Amino acid sequence: EQTTVVVIGAGPTGLTLANLLQRSDIPCVLLERRSRDFVENRHRAGIVDARVRQLYEDWGLADVLGGPPDDGLLEFRVDGVAHLVDHARLSGGRYGWLCPQQVLVRNLITTFTDGGGDLRFDVPDVAIHDLTADRARVTCTGPAGEPTTIEARYVAGCDGARGPSRVSVPPGTMATYTFDHEVSWLTIMATTPPPPHPLLSVSDQGYAAHFYRGPQASRYYLQCGPQDGPPEWPAERLWPELRVRLGDAQLPDGPITEIRRVDMRSEVCEPMSHGRMFLAGDSAHVMTPMGGKGMNLAVLEAETLALAIRAAVRDGDEAGLRGYSTTCLERAWRYQEFSRWMLEMLHDSGDSSRVGPFRRRLARTRLAALFTDSTAARVFGEMMAGVGN
Ligand code: APR
Repeated sequence: EQTTVVVIGAGPTGLTLANLLQRSDIPCVLLERRSRDFVENRHRAGIVDARVRQLYEDWGLADVLGGPPDDGLLEFRVDGVAHLVDHARLSGGRYGWLCPQQVLVRNLITTFTDGGGDLRFDVPDVAIHDLTADRARVTCTGPAGEPTTIEARYVAGCDGARGPSRVSVPPGTMATYTFDHEVSWLTIMATTPPPPHPLLSVSDQGYAAHFYRGPQASRYYLQCGPQDGPPEWPAERLWPELRVRLGDAQLPDGPITEIRRVDMRSEVCEPMSHGRMFLAGDSAHVMTPMGGKGMNLAVLEAETLALAIRAAVRDGDEAGLRGYSTTCLERAWRYQEFSRWMLEMLHDSGDSSRVGPFRRRLARTRLAALFTDSTAARVFGEMMAGVGN
């Protein structure tokens, strides 16, 4: 088989790229290891920022955004005292969308396949070859068990943090920079009423948060010990602790549909391309959920890659492809820095046993600056909108 681009991975990155290539009349094949049902029900991120909302609208894809608009109000609760930060106002009136990732994925799949897109699920053994030849080669077993070889001009590795693309380059070609934030969270999905605004709570007991994930669905984060896990947190312990941490004695409880511990770890792979293969999204970098930037950064990279491939295919101009990694890495490090800045601020402000009183006061000072009409508040608002320069 022949095509122009083989996209590996049907997450937000791969699906956005496939849709943008389709709208640019560039043939592509999207290969996904899992089933359609699995990817359409995987609960991950939940906030599309203002810049990514604009991107989908610019490409005529506004319909993929499900859920309500994000009015831009973020509530920081510090020792039980509420501070509303209007990051939409701080970023010049830009607002995002409270769109659960699985809703975005579902809509991107529908739009791509309705447009005649070639999307193959249940493809278990994708392998990538000949990345520095004049045609790359991707082999796999098709959905009906048939051995498949696809020759392509480009391969887009959108296969997430543990996919094959990053490891299919010769040893020493790419370097991975990792950071352990030494913070662990329980991440919980529950069938409970979502908060009126995203709620981030700081107290001596540690960080906690509450987000919209549907009209009757919530995502909670609860800072926990490094050895903690679901067994240490049965519902009868979890809900009282969430009420204390979130400073809301009336917080309703409900069925917990998912709970697991996530150790806050970040990583960036450099460079983000090798020969005919280009990495985008979690295949190139892992971000913590802090600040909600993982999915938004991934979608921006999908657009950068789509535009670079379009210029190369339409006009023979490969400058975008040559500069792809540099362009994306500069932005990825800026997003990593923002996520780290926020994670440090909201965790050092809490139980000072971790970092000592001096760093606790630094973090509280950083936090307090967001509640005034300061430069720090505007920079924060712009990063939340995704329009930080
Ligand atoms: N072959 C084909 N597909 C694969 C393979 C493989 N060998 N390995 C992984 N995949 C698929 C996964 O099944 C998944 O559907 O690649 C997709 C990667 O999707 P994500 O992990 O969601 O990564 P990405 O699309 O970059 O989106 C990043 O998702 O992980 C969250 O928080 C992250 O919100 C961010 C967003």
